[in-house]
Amino acid sequence: MSKVLILNGSPHVHGCTERALQEAATTLQQEGIETTIINVGNKNIRGCLACYQCKEKGQCVINDAVNDIAPLFEHADGLLIGTPVYYGHANGGLLALLDRLFFSTHFSKVMKVGAAVVSSRRAGSTSAFEDINKYFTISGMPIASSTYWNEVHGTTAEDVEKDIEGLNTMRNLAKAMAFLIKSIEMGKQQIGLPELKADVKTNFIRIEN
Ligand SMILES: Cc1cc2nc3c(=O)[nH]c(=O)nc-3n(C[C@H](O)[C@H](O)[C@H](O)COP(=O)(O)O)c2cc1C
Repeated sequence: MSKVLILNGSPHVHGCTERALQEAATTLQQEGIETTIINVGNKNIRGCLACYQCKEKGQCVINDAVNDIAPLFEHADGLLIGTPVYYGHANGGLLALLDRLFFSTHFSKVMKVGAAVVSSRRAGSTSAFEDINKYFTISGMPIASSTYWNEVHGTTAEDVEKDIEGLNTMRNLAKAMAFLIKSIEMGKQQIGLPELKADVKTNFIRIEN
């Protein structure tokens, strides 16, 4: 059974972001996809130390939620990430986790389907949306999209309940995500995964005149 790992980047376990993610999760389940939701926005997560020890160890030296989530991500076919909007960007704690999760893990993320969901009271949603999508597009992960940018609005989950368009956007997102996951699974069997090589880095060797 295909699996989607869902990360709730809000400190509110039953807030607006979670309400949106639940709507998507229900539809994913109806589409035959297993879902696991993990609350990360309520955890104490510090930023990357840039120690590069993960290059040898294959995991982060800070042994926290990042290392717990890594194997779940490795075995997932899709990653759905939700965040509240703070000052026009994604929750800083979530970004700290994602920096370390994507940097410290060496398994291939190619063709795992990514999707971002944002919740704001009023503004800044599209910038926060881009914050999350950038992790996918540097990792060979296709992005599932919907009938609007994946956002809901409100201060409480009750507000989001009234955001009919937002909730419908979540259901459409989940349907698109399920379709992509199933199509990629067929593609893997019929034509195999593309070989993407990232072994050439821009080098800054100084050329003396
Ligand atoms: C520190 C902080 C900054 C916020 N900044 C914004 C913002 O820039 N734009 C906005 O519309 N809402 C902003 N909000 C409101 C939340 O994004 C909004 O209520 C969101 O739906 C909460 O989701 P949650 O219930 O999942 O935590 C902010 C809230 C906090 C606590």
